[in-house]
Amino acid sequence: MQSDHLLFMKQITKRFNGVPVLTDVDFSLFGGEVHVLVGENGAGKSTLMNILTGSVRADEGELWLDGQKADIRTPADARALGIEIVHQELMLAPHLSVAENIYLGKEPLGAFGKIDWKRLNSDAARLLEELHIQLDVHTQVKALTVAQRQLVEIAKVLSQNPKLLILDEPTSALTESETDLLLQRVELLKERGIGIVYISHKMDEITRIADRATVLRDGRYIGTLDREEIEIQKIIEMMVGRKDVIDYHRRHEFSNEPVLEVRGLSNHTIRDIGFTLHRGEILGIAGLMGSGRSETARAIFGIDKVERGEIFLDGKQVHITHPRKAIRHRMGFAPEDRKDQALFLRMALWPNISISRIFKNKWGIRDIRGEKKLAEEYRQKLRIRTTGIYQTVQRLSGGNQQKAVIARWLATDPKILILDEPTRGIDVGAKTEIYELLSELTDKGVSVIVISSELHELLAVADRILVMCEGRITGELQHSEFSQEKIMSYAVGHTMEVIV
Ligand SMILES: Nc1ncnc2c1ncn2[C@@H]1O[C@H](COP(=O)(O)OP(=O)(O)OP(=O)(O)O)[C@@H](O)[C@H]1O
Ligand SMILES: [Mg+2]
Repeated sequence: MQSDHLLFMKQITKRFNGVPVLTDVDFSLFGGEVHVLVGENGAGKSTLMNILTGSVRADEGELWLDGQKADIRTPADARALGIEIVHQELMLAPHLSVAENIYLGKEPLGAFGKIDWKRLNSDAARLLEELHIQLDVHTQVKALTVAQRQLVEIAKVLSQNPKLLILDEPTSALTESETDLLLQRVELLKERGIGIVYISHKMDEITRIADRATVLRDGRYIGTLDREEIEIQKIIEMMVGRKDVIDYHRRHEFSNEPVLEVRGLSNHTIRDIGFTLHRGEILGIAGLMGSGRSETARAIFGIDKVERGEIFLDGKQVHITHPRKAIRHRMGFAPEDRKDQALFLRMALWPNISISRIFKNKWGIRDIRGEKKLAEEYRQKLRIRTTGIYQTVQRLSGGNQQKAVIARWLATDPKILILDEPTRGIDVGAKTEIYELLSELTDKGVSVIVISSELHELLAVADRILVMCEGRITGELQHSEFSQEKIMSYAVGHTMEVIV
């Protein structure tokens, strides 16, 4: 049956501790096809793929590969059948080289059973070349950008010559131009006849790459669209299950009152950064990866050393030499690599949200109930999908973990909030909700800086946009001047004089 399919998953059901996560889900894939899997955070996408790769066992259902029933019990079973996955979280060993990472655990052996380093390096180099990836195979992985690591992960699984490749949000940490490169690589693999399952929250990329798209909602199969039927609006409706999908509209009104003024800020990565942030304003910072956006935030927040320059808060000069001081001035900063730095994975959801705001009652005793209430409030506001605030964060889906960190920073009650890539890995509906929350905060007088690689996000959410290139601010756009072209032009280093 279904022998023309490379893969056919039939009526898959999975429960975790009695809670259904997948119910009767069907999914199929042809060779040489890109089949996109979409759904809100927690819809069950990663779980369905984990069943295919043998890291999770289904409770019910059948799995057919090349027209034959397959019994995949372990990751090794899946690998033997030619199934490979690039996970949502990167899994490379930072201290090993690119080549070592690619061949980790399957190093080519030479005489006397010793690792044949020469072959290992040349094989790795050839593999990268085939994928048009320019990287020195001797480089340590920790020296690579996120985008480069992502490509190494892909090279690594391709070294296994898979028939079926799963990419779980491969571009969530990439800029638009890097995404473009990765999508070109995916096209190449498709031409080689590899069947590809592609999970993503980015609608523009889905319409570009999908041959088919299947939508899951609350662990159920909603439907599959063929290439010519795929429309963003239709997919979103299927994902959220209603027609009146909220659209985000901001008033773009804020006061003239400066809250934060930065003058001539410089260190080894940034040069002469100067700008003013006003009360109730959302200031966007655009720029390519490595342009100094995150570094600017880190310098202001007291994480990176400042060599020259001044910072004023409410007109008074401050010396923020440590994040603690920034927090004391009621600043908050959610860094881009949130998973590594920010979450206590083994702890329940509630302290992960409330930790930045330990409540004390009038006797100085910790008010656990107050903290839990706060956590519950934000769980609902951000629709974090869990069994409740007692669920351990480790058990949350990728996007719901992201939401937990954002919830924590929103809950800090800051005066100034800096968010670096706030909606990475977060589904379309929840993105809008985060924008709404930011807007609510600014109505209360909070000022926000949003760093984002997604231009349409900045264009939607910001009142004003600064653009950076090579450590400097190269452009500033008022809301009336917003355009994708102008931002891109500043981002590649054209200065204001050239453009206007
Ligand atoms: N080991 C586990 N124990 C308990 N619950 C789990 C476990 N793994 C996943 N879940 C739950 O299963 C549901 C589906 O999670 P899954 O990771 O498949 O979602 P997803 O569609 O990949 O979401 P995202 O877009 O956020 O990555 C979530 O509610 C999650 O909390
Ligand atoms: Mg997932």
